[in-house]
Amino acid sequence: MNKSIDSKKLKELYIEFFKQKNHAVIPNAPLIPEEDPTVLFTTAGMHPLVRYILGQPHPRGKKLTNVQKCLRTDDIDEVGDNSHLTFFEMLGNWSLGDYWKEDAIKWSWEFLTDKKWLGIDKRKLYISVFAGDKDAPRDEESARIWQSLGVPKERIFYFPKKDNWWGPAGATGPCGSDTEMFYDAGKKPHGKDCKPGDSCGKYFEIWNDVFMQYNKTAEGKYEMLKQKNVDTGMGVERTVAALQNKKSVYEIETFQPIVQKIKEIAKIKSPDEKQEKSIRIIADHIRASTFVLSEEITPSNVDRGYILRRLIRRAVRHGKLIGIEREFLSDLVKLVIDIYKKDYPQLEKNKEFILTELKNEEAKFRNTLERGLKKFEEIARQVKRIDGKNAFLLFQSFGFPIEMTKELGKEMNTEIDEEGFQKEFEKHQQISRVGAEKKFKGGLSDASEQSTKLHTATHLLNEAIRKVLKRRDVVQKGSNITPERLRFDFNLDRKLTEDEVRKIEELVNEQIKKGLLVVREEMTFKEAKGRGAQAMFEQKYEEKVSVYSIGDFSIEVCGGPHVRNTKEVGKFKIVKEEGIAAGIRRIKAIIE
Ligand code: ALA
Repeated sequence: MNKSIDSKKLKELYIEFFKQKNHAVIPNAPLIPEEDPTVLFTTAGMHPLVRYILGQPHPRGKKLTNVQKCLRTDDIDEVGDNSHLTFFEMLGNWSLGDYWKEDAIKWSWEFLTDKKWLGIDKRKLYISVFAGDKDAPRDEESARIWQSLGVPKERIFYFPKKDNWWGPAGATGPCGSDTEMFYDAGKKPHGKDCKPGDSCGKYFEIWNDVFMQYNKTAEGKYEMLKQKNVDTGMGVERTVAALQNKKSVYEIETFQPIVQKIKEIAKIKSPDEKQEKSIRIIADHIRASTFVLSEEITPSNVDRGYILRRLIRRAVRHGKLIGIEREFLSDLVKLVIDIYKKDYPQLEKNKEFILTELKNEEAKFRNTLERGLKKFEEIARQVKRIDGKNAFLLFQSFGFPIEMTKELGKEMNTEIDEEGFQKEFEKHQQISRVGAEKKFKGGLSDASEQSTKLHTATHLLNEAIRKVLKRRDVVQKGSNITPERLRFDFNLDRKLTEDEVRKIEELVNEQIKKGLLVVREEMTFKEAKGRGAQAMFEQKYEEKVSVYSIGDFSIEVCGGPHVRNTKEVGKFKIVKEEGIAAGIRRIKAIIE
């Protein structure tokens, strides 16, 4: 086994391997899913690919690969053990209606065990496959393929849906059974049947091949998709830990500087078990927070902002637990940025923003943390179970997220009435709740519809800027869409005048009112260029791309989705125009 493989090397090898198997490398998508409104964050490399999994042709072909940054909050309570993280990098390869189980499994095995690649000892690998249920059959086929590669029967385990099924992340969407690869960390098993997938810590999952052939409908039915897809995910941190024979992910080179710095600040040389856990939680949460902040999310009490707030505040509290009484998170953020800035340039670009927001949040919470903890103890001394009113008091007056109050409760053997808290919370949110209900009634499809409208509005805006400025050299430099707004970056060495902003807005609204048809065609990149299409990324001339034109007004190389008629977009409004870097401007706009 190759012990000299670090994260950088592993990523290079993986991409190189799949390039050799004719996969196209696609870019890393933002942590804020632009396309999949069923999740708050990108939790896997498949979210940006959902519509291609559903059958739309991908401009780069049927075999894709990349490294994707991911954030999962499901595992937040397990962070601190040897392998669970909220933020991590995931390697992935995809077949969009191309290869199926045989190739996917064969390639996974080759990459893991061949000396040319990772060269992991075959005896250290364990496999799980789907056991079958009323929705889908037992996956004997995968088991047979593994056996044909030399994996003995005894090392192949059959598990139910809760273990060997991926997706849909939301209530509906593409999904399928999977086969998972586990690395035996060599620990003696505790408990008589410590199996892959158990929390006994002997085996940790490093790779998952998902066979996405179903679509789960709103009625809970599993229908066949148009095509059979493969979606795989390999955790970078875990695999590196396995390759380097490390006990935990926190010992690998991307974590070590952060872990060491925390120890230094806390003046701890050899942490005991509890301290070790706090150090790990801080290290994980600071990485996750830095990446979320780099996408310009700010701490708040809703959605993504709330998750960010929880991560930051939990890190601060665990700092206190190991004796850190001063502001310390910015010292760690700088390390995170240094470690990852080459692969994720927006960390450096948004450094000031990240540091300012983080400092504010840390300072705000430090102000109330001490008193809040005293209050908690005072209440806990008097009662066995903290009621909703008091849990809400801790939230409202001391900024304790309910999850933190629960964690404190666990540590101090005090129960928390979470339901009571929710009731109190709702009582205090009467006004915004009406809004929330409205939003909820519209449901998730509403959110994706909204994103689609904003997507079409972005194309109109892109062209309107050039037309109003009468300059063809002003082009798109970036774009980001959430259900609430669009963000559009372009090159210009000065601020737009108010008059220009108004004219651009008007021109976009005129096109919307005209009811122009939005038409999608496929053609080679060369043809698209020949027809004057805008394109964010240069591609090979002979490569087929998808092109959207909006009447005669705009034409762009783009994957979609778009509305069919501009009338569907609604009223377009620019809410902000600002400079974000030398020569780059940013517009934020909404539709009303
Ligand atoms: N989407 C699959 C996972 O994240 C590959 O495990």
